[in-house]
Amino acid sequence: MKSLILAGGRGTRLWPLSRELMPKQFVRFLDDRSLFQKTVERALKFSRPEEIFVVTNRDYKFRVLDDLGELGVKLPEENVLLEPEGRNTLPAILWGVLRVEETFGDSTVAVLPSDHLIEAGEAYERAFRNAEKLAEGYLVTFGIKPTRPHTGYGYIRPGGKIQSEGGVIGYTVAEFKEKPDLETAKRYVEENYLWNSGMFMFRTGVFIEEVKVHAPKVWEAFENAGSVEEAYRAVPDVSVDYGVMEKTGKAAVVPLNTYWNDLGSFDAIYDVLEKDESGNAVRVSGKNSDYIALNSRNNLVMTERLTATVGVEDLIIIDTDDALLVAHRGESQRVKEVYKLLKERG
Ligand code: GDD
Ligand code: MG
Repeated sequence: MKSLILAGGRGTRLWPLSRELMPKQFVRFLDDRSLFQKTVERALKFSRPEEIFVVTNRDYKFRVLDDLGELGVKLPEENVLLEPEGRNTLPAILWGVLRVEETFGDSTVAVLPSDHLIEAGEAYERAFRNAEKLAEGYLVTFGIKPTRPHTGYGYIRPGGKIQSEGGVIGYTVAEFKEKPDLETAKRYVEENYLWNSGMFMFRTGVFIEEVKVHAPKVWEAFENAGSVEEAYRAVPDVSVDYGVMEKTGKAAVVPLNTYWNDLGSFDAIYDVLEKDESGNAVRVSGKNSDYIALNSRNNLVMTERLTATVGVEDLIIIDTDDALLVAHRGESQRVKEVYKLLKERG
């Protein structure tokens, strides 16, 4: 199986930890491996290095190469695709799929976003093996059991069972709905929909056919262009979820029963980090930096210098070289608004 890693997102909900030039997939906020590196390690479970492709932004070329170098993984140069500008996930996936087909002919491809934390143990491997079988005819998604009505995810209603010799290996997708409003998300959770994990698996030929039918403008931009620059100038900004998955009749879902967290906000990061006895999750980096907590509970503190809090709780404190964020836990989804305001100001 070939692996296609998506690593071109900007990660604006994690400002100021995640920056335009240092988005979250390259930040080492959990341990000494970035999320991108962890994704490469997962890809290596099923693909040899020459079967792994990365689609990222030109701005991140050296981040990708440095991260790969540190892992001692060498991809052929042509496998690192550098987009001149971000046009969301559908153009990125299509470009990667076309490159896979050029290199290997019709193939099974696993699409892996690089902004998740996921436990890639036995359940993960089993789901991937089942998905590989289903990929003969389907665009396969991986479904996660929802824990709350999150509006930032795609939702999947499983349809009929799909059997193979060993038993049920997945379900058809009766409905795929990307980022519903809160009311709808609540209903979906009650009705046992699954979250779309953001990973996909399919044959290149099946995917390309579905793009031609459901997103012809995206297809034409690549088909008519003489260069990558031209393609990206013409191609609409659209995610694979809206552009193909909501519309296709060929989707299937494999339930994935494993730890999965998209680390989409500081609240999600607080959840995964270890806490001290007062419930503070603390990450200090840089020389002379430390955190002193007096009567302070349940805070997330990430700091590059000596920091103290007295009598505060449920705060998110992110202190970097040149920017400081203080937010209430539970409101960190709104951090992307700060990023937007900063962008508008220029
Ligand atoms: N190369 C490239 N170019 N990569 C991109 C681009 C782009 O323009 N935009 C985003 N990506 C990468 C991101 O870095 C991330 O690894 C992945 O593609 C997914 O993009 P997100 O922007 O993070 O998508 P999302 O989180 O809003 O939604 C997707 O993931 C959810 C699960 O986390 C959807 O697939 C949802 O349905 C899903 O529930
Ligand atoms: Mg995401």
